[in-house]
Amino acid sequence: MSKIERLGVVGGGQMGGGIAEVGARAGLDVIVCEVSDDAARAARSGLWKSLNRAVQKGKITEAERDETQARLHFTTTVGDLDDRQLVIEAIAEDEGLKLKLFAELDKVVTDPDAILASNTSSIPIAKLAGATGRPDKVLGVHFFNPVPVLKLVELVPSLLTSEDTIARADAFATEQLGKETIRAQDRSGFIVNALLVPYLLSAIRMCEGGFASAEDIDNGMVLGCAHPMGPLKLADMVGLDTVKAIADSMHAEYAEPTYAAPPLLQRMVDAGLKGKKTGKGFYTWE
Ligand code: 3HC
Repeated sequence: MSKIERLGVVGGGQMGGGIAEVGARAGLDVIVCEVSDDAARAARSGLWKSLNRAVQKGKITEAERDETQARLHFTTTVGDLDDRQLVIEAIAEDEGLKLKLFAELDKVVTDPDAILASNTSSIPIAKLAGATGRPDKVLGVHFFNPVPVLKLVELVPSLLTSEDTIARADAFATEQLGKETIRAQDRSGFIVNALLVPYLLSAIRMCEGGFASAEDIDNGMVLGCAHPMGPLKLADMVGLDTVKAIADSMHAEYAEPTYAAPPLLQRMVDAGLKGKKTGKGFYTWE
């Protein structure tokens, strides 16, 4: 099976940046496509910071950092992804934007065997596939934050994804990136978010109702259940706008109250309190 050598990542935020980092560290040539020069600069600076941190932690040498940086390129033109063998979309969790992007990728990516993947958490892969003329080459390849640390990748074929595409994506994630994969059907939230998001929403409802403080809710799960971080801190880290977008997609899919975003989450997003990315959410972040 042919190895992926040229990877494109659309969106250089915390997920896209993390995917680009693990790809480049695994030896791939990576182009990160962002929406503006400022966003591309921010993506580059986030990646350089993360690579410097890896050097400080002794995970890579300075020479390996320099080689990794040389494999990372930045653009604001989707057309620059024309020679990619795999493109992973990691833009905002917005169906309209993603559909537009998949239609554009389908036009510009020339290799008929190229895979067009989405890091979406909750938007139907079948819809994204339908925006292209190659639905057999489209699937969900869902990473977890922080991408360099967490081993899991969920593979999500739609009803039209070919076995060959799934096998190639699996080999890419496991053999090239050193991740572990699980497979889920094309249902909003897949496996992990379908379980995780109702838990995060329950914690927000608990806080909203004044039942306990954010710190006590989080300490309860960290000290009582050995979770690495509590649900409200995790929601802040994922981004409260992202948690809300995933909840909304799952609520649209299943129409069950467990997926309904509580008003507090909505108001915090309205107020720009989106968690770590804006410096304030349930906690204040440096
Ligand atoms: N990039 C690279 N490495 C990082 C990192 C980052 N952003 N953040 C932490 N690390 C590394 C550190 O370097 C450290 O490595 P070391 O043990 O080799 O020195 C290790 O991770 C632990 O980090 P810290 O000591 O700084 O801090 P913690 O022990 O508190 O761990 C954490 C931080 C890894 C974020 C941990 O708290 C954790 O795993 N939390 C849960 C994260 C989680 O549940 N993520 C899933 C979110 S859901 C999702 O992503 C899906 C999406 O669709 C919403």
